[in-house]
Amino acid sequence: MSLGERRILLVIGGGIAAYKTLDLIRRLRERGASVRAILTRAAAEFVTPLSVASLTGDKVYQDLFSLTDEAEIGHIELSRAADLLVVAPATANLMARMAAGLADDLATTALLATDKPVLIAPAMNVRMWEHRATRRNLAQLQEDGVLVVGPNEGPMACNEFGFGRMAEPLEIVAAIEKFFDRGDAPQALATPRLASPDPVSAPVTGPQPLSGKRILVTSGPTHEPIDPVRYLANRSSGKQGHAIAGALARLGAEVVLVSGPVALPDPAGVEVVHVETADQMLRACEAALPVDAAICAAAVADWRVASNADEKMKKQPGGEPPSLRLVENPDILATLSHHASARPRLVVGFAAETQNVVEFAITKRIRKGCDWIVANDVSPKTGIMGGDANTVHLITGGNIEDWPEMSKQDVAQRLASRIAGELNATTMTADDMDWDQP
Ligand SMILES: Cc1cc2nc3c(=O)[nH]c(=O)nc-3n(C[C@H](O)[C@H](O)[C@H](O)COP(=O)(O)O)c2cc1C
Repeated sequence: MSLGERRILLVIGGGIAAYKTLDLIRRLRERGASVRAILTRAAAEFVTPLSVASLTGDKVYQDLFSLTDEAEIGHIELSRAADLLVVAPATANLMARMAAGLADDLATTALLATDKPVLIAPAMNVRMWEHRATRRNLAQLQEDGVLVVGPNEGPMACNEFGFGRMAEPLEIVAAIEKFFDRGDAPQALATPRLASPDPVSAPVTGPQPLSGKRILVTSGPTHEPIDPVRYLANRSSGKQGHAIAGALARLGAEVVLVSGPVALPDPAGVEVVHVETADQMLRACEAALPVDAAICAAAVADWRVASNADEKMKKQPGGEPPSLRLVENPDILATLSHHASARPRLVVGFAAETQNVVEFAITKRIRKGCDWIVANDVSPKTGIMGGDANTVHLITGGNIEDWPEMSKQDVAQRLASRIAGELNATTMTADDMDWDQP
C-alpha cells in the first residue's frame, strides 16, 4: 500500500524505543510519505538529530524558541502542514503532558496547536504503563480523539516483561495506512471510544474485535511425575502460547489460559489456570468450556509413567536402573475437537515437528479433527523451542500459508487477527477491524 503524498509529522519522545523510529521513518518514506520530525529534549539523548535528519531528508525541529525555525516554518504551520501527527515513542511523560494540554516545548505546543489527527505509539516500562496515572492519561487522550497503536507485550530493556513495548515500526505503518484508508478520519475522531469500559484495569488498547468472545488457550509443557522429585518434560517455554493469550486479550477476548509449568509471568488481562500434568490440563480445559475458540499451543506430553512412585526412587548399589512403563496421555486437542456437547466453533492445534513439518501437520489436522493447525519446525537448529522467533505454516482446510520468520509476539498478533476474522466472519473480517470498533 502506498502512502504517496501523505505528510507525517513525527514527534519522537524520550524513550529507549526512540531508536525504532529511525526504521519507522525509513518504512514511511519507502511507501512515499514525507516525514518531518520533532525531537524532544529527552529524545535527543536517545537518537541524534543527524540520524533523524538523514532519514527524513529534512531538518529536525527541536526548539520552540528558535528564531530560524520560526522564520522558516512556525510551530503552528509545522503542526498543521501535516496530514497526521504520529508520536513515537509516546513516553509516559509525553502522554501526561498531552493529556494535561501542556505546551511547554515544541513537541507539545505542536500537538496542542494542531487541527490534524494524532496517533500515539506508547512505550514504557510495564509498571509505568499499568500505573493509574498513565491509564487516566490514556483514557483522557482517547476521549480527546487520539488514536493509539500498541503497546505490545514482551521482554523489555529494563529486564521486565509485560505490556509497554512500543508497537513495531511495521505495525505503526499498518495503523497509519489503515487510518488513511478510511478516508473519513475526521468522523472517526469525532466519536472516540475507549478501548474498554474500564481503562484503568484494561490491559490493552486499540480495536476490540473479539469483545464478547471467550477463548481457551493452552501453553507450555506438561510435567509427568516419575516420583515426587522427578518428572518427564519437554523443552517448550510457553512463549508462543502466552503471546497468543495476550494478543487475544488485546483484541478484547475473555481469555482463559491453561498453562503448564513455565518461567513466564501471567499475561495481563488473562485468567490463568496453572497445571502440571496432561490430565490436569485436560480437566482445566473442560472446566473452561463453553468457549468460542480453543487454541492448543501447549506441548502436552504424549505419555506418562504408568504408576509413579509415592516416595523418591532410590538408586540401589549395583542394582539395575528402573525401567519406566509409559501409558498414553489424554489427547486434549482431539478431545476438544470431538467434544459432543461443547465443541468450540474454532479449534486450532499446533504441530511441533522436526521433519516433514507440513505433511505431518496436514495429517495431524485431519486425525485430530481440529480446524486449523499451526505447524513449526522445532529441530534444535531452528532455535524455536525456547527462542523468541518462530517460522510457522498455517494450515486451514485446503490452504497452507507459509509465514515468514517473525517474533513470537508477531506470530501471536497475526494469528489473533485471523481468529478474530474467523469468529466474526459473518459480521466482519479481520480487514474490517477499525479504530472505532468497540
Ligand atoms: C535509559 C532511559 C530510558 C527511558 N525509557 C523510557 C521509556 O521507554 N518510556 C518512558 O516513558 N520513559 C522513559 N524514560 C524516562 C524519560 O526519558 C523521561 O520521562 C523524559 O522526561 C521523557 O521525555 P519526553 O516527554 O520528551 O518523552 C527513560 C529514561 C532513561 C534514562
